[in-house]
Amino acid sequence: MPIQAFSARDFRCLENIHLEADPGFNLIYGPNASGKTSILEALAYLGRGKSFRGAPVTSLVRHGEREFVLFGQVEDGGRTSNVGVRNSADGLEVRVDGESGGGAAELASALPLQIIDPDVHDLVAGAPDQRRRYLDWVAFHVEHGYLGTWRRFRRALKQRNAALKSGQAATTIRGWNAEFVELALQIDAGRRLALEVATEALEEAGRDMLGSEVRFEYRPGWKEEHELLEALESSIERDLQQGSTQAGPHRADLRLIYDERQARKLVSRGQQKLLACAMVLAATETAQTALERPLLLLLDDPAAELDEDSLGRLMGRVANLGCQVVATSLLPEIGVFTTRAAMFHVEHGVLSREK
Ligand SMILES: Nc1ncnc2c1ncn2[C@@H]1O[C@H](COP(=O)(O)OP(=O)(O)OP(=O)(O)O)[C@@H](O)[C@H]1O
Ligand SMILES: [Mg+2]
Repeated sequence: MPIQAFSARDFRCLENIHLEADPGFNLIYGPNASGKTSILEALAYLGRGKSFRGAPVTSLVRHGEREFVLFGQVEDGGRTSNVGVRNSADGLEVRVDGESGGGAAELASALPLQIIDPDVHDLVAGAPDQRRRYLDWVAFHVEHGYLGTWRRFRRALKQRNAALKSGQAATTIRGWNAEFVELALQIDAGRRLALEVATEALEEAGRDMLGSEVRFEYRPGWKEEHELLEALESSIERDLQQGSTQAGPHRADLRLIYDERQARKLVSRGQQKLLACAMVLAATETAQTALERPLLLLLDDPAAELDEDSLGRLMGRVANLGCQVVATSLLPEIGVFTTRAAMFHVEHGVLSREK
């Protein structure tokens, strides 16, 4: 069971809430602006060290306060750990089992989670960076060394770009290429492996939820007929002009092919949401298998933009995953869960459990 107890203080509209979660399904319901999304965002923050909506810290601290504090009791294979986060304009403070000094990676290992919210379509229809982040998340959970490689690659890219921006000679820029290529190829290999592992789950989820064939098409960030070193060489003039590196894994994309066409150009919003949900569920399933533990899945208003049948198919798959779910809804009788859920009511930022 991922999270047993959770509390949040001074997070958005939440002054002080406490949640004793069910290991299976939890439904938080309440009217508009009662605090439903705030609760899910607080839970997500505890597992990621940042907002899933990209909101800055200052907008997350309750108006008039200086900091927010989150705490969770997380169970993993019979062992309970305590995870705490304190955040203010001065920065993020993470504590896992009394050890301070950690960051987002420690939180992600302690409380691995995924989110489906009303903006989930962006994963299909939005810019490639969201799909790169998606792929990196899978790779992070599937391969031990991936995060370290990713960090080293980011540093190499930053240094190469800084050299390009400061107008250094092409020969100096070439001096960065060997390290850049070595790390880039490791990232590329990690992403290809992550994709390979997640593909079956995606195809199955896509077929089940959309009734049609869905597959990924991976673009590494440079023309595949070229070696990366060649691609860097042929774009060096352009790199210098633009002050940034044009070829590499920071330009990778993942195309979703639905009915043999590129999904982002074709499908309706409801279909985009279902496709994006299929991606999230496939990632969740893949990480659960790799970590051998259930994940926490946060569903913010899953009913939004889905008809009854589509919602039923989505929730059917969610139920089959065997993860812990915290979902929100405007009304308590939502046909979201096929089995019994622990019910919580929220109003004006105050959370209470229903008997
Ligand atoms: N930093 C903050 N301090 C105080 N209140 C905030 C802060 N940030 C957001 N709020 C308020 O919190 C309230 C609850 O927002 P939230 O998004 O959680 O509502 P919700 O229940 O998800 O609503 P909806 O059903 O419309 O999605 C809103 O009125 C919002 O203005
Ligand atoms: Mg909301």
